[in-house]
Amino acid sequence: DSNPTANPVDVYRCYISHVLAPITGVDIGLVYPALEWTQNLEKGDLILAVPRLRIPGKNPAELAREWAEKFPKNPYVRPPTATGTFLRFYFKKDVLSKLVLTSILSRKSAYGPIDTGKGKRVVVEFSSPNIAKPFHAGHLRSTIIGGFLSNLYESCGWDVVRMNYLGDWGKQFGILGVGYKRFGSEEKLLEDPVNHLFEVYVAINKIVEQEKEAEKAKAAEKGQKQISNGPSDQEAHEFFFKMENGSEECIAMWKRFRELSIEKYKATYSRLNISYDDYSGESQVSKESMERAGKMMREMGISSESDGAIVVDFKPHAKKLGKAVVQKKDGTTLYLTRDIGAAMERYEKYKFDKMIYVVACQQDLHLQQLFMILKLLKLDWADRLSHVNFGMVLGMSSRRGTVVFLDDILADARDKMHEVMRKNEEKYKQVEDPEMVADVIGRTAVMIQDMSGKRINNYTFDMARMTSFEGDTGPYLQYAHSRLSSIQRKAGIPTEELLKADFSLLTEDHATNLVRCLAQYPDVLQNTLKTLEPTTVVTYLFKMTHLLSSSYDVLRVLGEEPKLSAARMALYESARQVLNNGMRLLGLTPVDRM
Ligand code: ARG
Repeated sequence: DSNPTANPVDVYRCYISHVLAPITGVDIGLVYPALEWTQNLEKGDLILAVPRLRIPGKNPAELAREWAEKFPKNPYVRPPTATGTFLRFYFKKDVLSKLVLTSILSRKSAYGPIDTGKGKRVVVEFSSPNIAKPFHAGHLRSTIIGGFLSNLYESCGWDVVRMNYLGDWGKQFGILGVGYKRFGSEEKLLEDPVNHLFEVYVAINKIVEQEKEAEKAKAAEKGQKQISNGPSDQEAHEFFFKMENGSEECIAMWKRFRELSIEKYKATYSRLNISYDDYSGESQVSKESMERAGKMMREMGISSESDGAIVVDFKPHAKKLGKAVVQKKDGTTLYLTRDIGAAMERYEKYKFDKMIYVVACQQDLHLQQLFMILKLLKLDWADRLSHVNFGMVLGMSSRRGTVVFLDDILADARDKMHEVMRKNEEKYKQVEDPEMVADVIGRTAVMIQDMSGKRINNYTFDMARMTSFEGDTGPYLQYAHSRLSSIQRKAGIPTEELLKADFSLLTEDHATNLVRCLAQYPDVLQNTLKTLEPTTVVTYLFKMTHLLSSSYDVLRVLGEEPKLSAARMALYESARQVLNNGMRLLGLTPVDRM
């Protein structure tokens, strides 16, 4: 970014590396990236690990001491300290406060992200539920994480294509078609397609299973091999066969299911502040692209015939990937086949620089196989794909039992939150629309719980804990935001005034630590582009809110001398802005009162 104050820490990084380059004799281009900020501010604002500069034959600890001595006096950083092989830099307070707070107060919602992705396009595929099946915890996580990553890339200047790849094809739609003829209700379908289709699917599956068992028993009685799965299964087969061969009646029915479901999904996604650019799905992958892929695989010797099916044996390339079928005996395609075709079509359509699949770690093998096939096909974009995976949610259940629908989870969280809020009667009376606030905070609770740990870790869904105001929870984060908003309302100082405040009055350690923390936000986002972990941002926001909580008693705004009030208000308003920016990036809606 051409505006240097977009990232205040960068101003320091530039300055220090300019000074250090001649002292160390190391190229500035190497010094600059070696200057990193620390997790713990006690250890310095920026830190240089001397061994990173790879100076041969010299003792790094000695070098650290030598360089610390040679570093000249200046207005920006205090004389560096050498600790072991590290050189630690502490920013001087007043210049820092002015730089950071004016940057935040003038950039507002644009403070944080740096345009590093200009001109680049990323496809983020996330959520991808299966029509007529429950929207389970895995889809919830994919939705939350994928929504966040999309926002992150977009804020950093990338052209983001948010893509939903619906599970909307396969034999289960034959089963659903048959089931709908028997159990379907137009009225219920229009009212609640997602739940009704699932109901129908469960009912018909029960019959299919019963028939299967009966056939099995019949065969066993006669001492014969079971030859049929029963009449309903047969009918489902035929239905799907007709779909694959373009039967108008079957396709029309399926299309309606798909469209009505998408409409319902859209409403739910919008509650999570998500909207898609592309509702693709397994059904949308064209036969031609799959046939083309099949031909390429055969010609390049990647696939071979086995028992009438077409198989890829990964063992020569990567042992642990085993073997995978890409075409069944009867010529029909599989999940993997459709993914191969889909990836090729997406590249043709979007010419992406990057494509991310946000999918549970249960599908690690599937995605490794997919990526390997595309690589073996020598597609030059195959190395632009990545799998952002995540662990499981344990112990999830809702009002309707253990089969979980996203809407139910959000409704449960809202009700629980409402109950928690009601316990504080005094406050509750002051909230204008408690139902609405409970809904927003309930969503925050669910989302923050999901994004708090490393993606790959499993976590236990714990309604009581996530809706509590104690600990690092969604409600706590919302509370921190509404408290800052309330200070701002009470003080009533306009932003233009805050920009003119005398920042040198912010002398207390609490103020300095807050400023240093706020300064780190742009770097946190750049780091998150590497980790692709929502927790990188969540952890940062909690660190900031903890600093805030301990500051309110020390840094009062009301009843202080006007100049001091203004300087402190500038600090709090900056904190509110950064908290707001971070929360929105996570897909949350910050509240001003609660
Ligand atoms: N619909 C799949 C499921 O629910 C997830 C799709 C993942 N994405 C993909 N390109 N395979 O398991």
